[in-house]
Amino acid sequence: MSQIKPVYASFKSIGAYIPEKILSNKDLEKMVDTTDEWILKRTGIKERHIAADDEYTSDMGTKAAELAIERSGIAKEEIDLVLCATVTPDYFNMPSTACIISDKIGIRDVQAFDISAACSGFVYLLSVAKAFIESGMKKNVLIIGAEKFSSIVDYTDRSTCILFGDGAGAAIISATSNKEEGFIDLHASADGSYADFLVTPAPGCINPVSQRVIDEGLNFVQMKGNETFKLAVKTLTKDVKEILIKNSIKSDDIPHFIPHQANYRIIKAVGDALNMREDQIVVTVGKYGNTSAASIPMAINDIWESGRLKNGELMLLDTFGGGLTWASALLPFSGKSIET
Ligand code: UT7
Repeated sequence: MSQIKPVYASFKSIGAYIPEKILSNKDLEKMVDTTDEWILKRTGIKERHIAADDEYTSDMGTKAAELAIERSGIAKEEIDLVLCATVTPDYFNMPSTACIISDKIGIRDVQAFDISAACSGFVYLLSVAKAFIESGMKKNVLIIGAEKFSSIVDYTDRSTCILFGDGAGAAIISATSNKEEGFIDLHASADGSYADFLVTPAPGCINPVSQRVIDEGLNFVQMKGNETFKLAVKTLTKDVKEILIKNSIKSDDIPHFIPHQANYRIIKAVGDALNMREDQIVVTVGKYGNTSAASIPMAINDIWESGRLKNGELMLLDTFGGGLTWASALLPFSGKSIET
């Protein structure tokens, strides 16, 4: 009897797109009652990038995806699934941003869809790509986390407008028979009882577009910042501790801990709880702010482009966001290292 050979999902390449325009803390001082000092001290954010008026989530996602495809060495014709994670899609109902990106890249007649898991979106996509690949249904999956978060931010609300930025990141996840190249473990979860911690009340069937929606600003993101902060530290720490223990890996053995980039104080608290050294922790929040589903792939792209991330090195991803959702992943980078 012939045995079925196991297939593993492997992380083959990374790409990102960062919009040109910078919104600095000094710029925000002119817009709301805040200071550069307050923002830096409470969040670690110095600046964030904002997409141009005519630059959409799909445009940023397409540019990140094209880089990821080029760096993977596979032809776009070999991609058999396109997934996009975003809470700021080009259109709130249809078509999906994944369909629009597929068209812009020139990927035809391939399954494409979006998922909504807020800041956890990219790691959620890793779990979907893994399931499709390891079940034998797909071979090369293009995953994209892209956000034009500025489109749902109220720039008169100082509690949210200082945090968020725009951008996109993408990766190619491919089938491999080499277990060493495969994901080691992945855990994703959610608790909808905290749905009101981070919410954009409209548009949706509860609040369809109306004059009331505009008057009350229901189309903007609302956040219970302090409560979210505390739960984020607790959940992120618990989640990574569990995945490390389950896989008998010490935090010392992780060269690249890549947490969601929401607030430097959250990253520091989780890093300290895990006894991580500074050189193990990837921090990009200072220059990009919180880019939601794009935050983790933009951070991976940063360390890849600077030559810090090498083939075979372990990445520990850890994320938390609206839903509430959270996820962690332990996996090697199985693509080419950049020559530096
Ligand atoms: O990505 C998804 C997950 N999201 C997060 O993880 C975000 C988590 N939350 C946070 O990052 C933080 O809670 C914030 C940065 C949003 C707020 O920081 P905080 O230390 O939790 O401040 P706070 O909300 O407890 O507010 C403290 C004070 C308040 O003033 P009073 O009541 O003490 O007089 C706020 O009104 O800071 C005030 N404040 C500000 N002051 C200057 C709030 N925002 C600002 C601001 N500038 N931008």
